[in-house]
Amino acid sequence: MTPPLIDPFARAIRYLRVSVTDRCDFRCVYCMAENMTFLPKADLLTLEELDRMCSSFVGLGVEKLRITGGEPLVRKGIMTFFRAMSRHLESGALKELTLTTNGSQLGRFAAELADCGVRRVNVSLDTLDPQKFADITRWGRLPQVLDGIRAAQEAGLRVKINAVALKGFNEEEQFSLTDWCAREGHDLTWIEVMPMGDLGNEDRLDQYWSLKDLRSRYAERYTLTDLAERTGGPARYVRLEETGQKIGFITPLTHNFCESCNRVRLTCTGELYMCLGQEDMADLRAPLRASPDNTLLERAIRAAIARKPKGHDFDYSRQGVAGQMTRHMSHTGG
Ligand code: GTP
Ligand code: 5AD
Ligand code: SF4
Repeated sequence: MTPPLIDPFARAIRYLRVSVTDRCDFRCVYCMAENMTFLPKADLLTLEELDRMCSSFVGLGVEKLRITGGEPLVRKGIMTFFRAMSRHLESGALKELTLTTNGSQLGRFAAELADCGVRRVNVSLDTLDPQKFADITRWGRLPQVLDGIRAAQEAGLRVKINAVALKGFNEEEQFSLTDWCAREGHDLTWIEVMPMGDLGNEDRLDQYWSLKDLRSRYAERYTLTDLAERTGGPARYVRLEETGQKIGFITPLTHNFCESCNRVRLTCTGELYMCLGQEDMADLRAPLRASPDNTLLERAIRAAIARKPKGHDFDYSRQGVAGQMTRHMSHTGG
């Protein structure tokens, strides 16, 4: 096994999240502004450059690759890229190739993803009410996403539903979403909303619903068993004994999980963010383009990892913009 990239806090970096586009066919209110200005296509890394980048990370010990966006499946030619990455699964260097998607394009791509070695997908779905779905995504069509999820299942992919916990929005759906996931055989993970993006007249604090509260509500109805298992991501899991279901909690605010962080994020323009909740980033595009051989790039990756910070600074208790990030989630891919 390749010696892993080790950061200053002795954490091994084995998970790379790659945002392949900043574009999306939806505009979830906590993720994007309604009138987003997207990057000119010429600024994006080409698919060949993305391949070189990811392959360098795999060469440096990354074992889990998660493709994100924006919406990764709206990037033109994206299947060529998945196909290319599947060679690292075949060689055994990569243990998991996966993606986080809004599900809208899964109907078209699920079978091919499975053929490229993808075994599971995380689908963002905050509500099962078509009108509320249209509101939160600003125009998304719920049936299209449900069809996509079904196509994924038919292709043999495991589906994990990611729901952002939003006060006054999906609180009353906690159990109906849970029951639906049980019936359909999906895992479910709840995420605390993070204060990112230009907030305009939105206030994330107003929307913030702590997962401590959500967990207590489960505990009133079910017997909860904490599970030790991890997926290499930040979620902690419990089992609802009465249904056998696994529920994940991603709690950047109530329980900071940074001490076990194993991941970094590459944007579609070749910036490497060492932490989702920090502004510092390293430009990897310049060293990538400076030479066809990867020596400079790998040196730049190591130098970036050497300045990975201890953790994020999100904090709703601090006033004003302190503890918030103006960068949109779609830029770094969540
Ligand atoms: P699994 O492989 O299924 O464990 O997935 P994952 O949780 O690693 O990936 P997913 O894309 O489902 O992540 C869900 C969300 O968790 C992301 O979109 C972020 O909102 C949040 N998240 C993931 N990693 C981090 C992190 O390092 N810091 C913070 N603050 N949030 C994170
Ligand atoms: N806080 C928490 N999660 C967010 N996501 C997007 N924006 C935010 C935010 N501000 C989630 C999406 C998706 C994943 C990529 O990130 O719902 O599941
Ligand atoms: Fe698109 Fe996902 Fe952001 Fe929603 S959360 S706008 S689906 S990238």
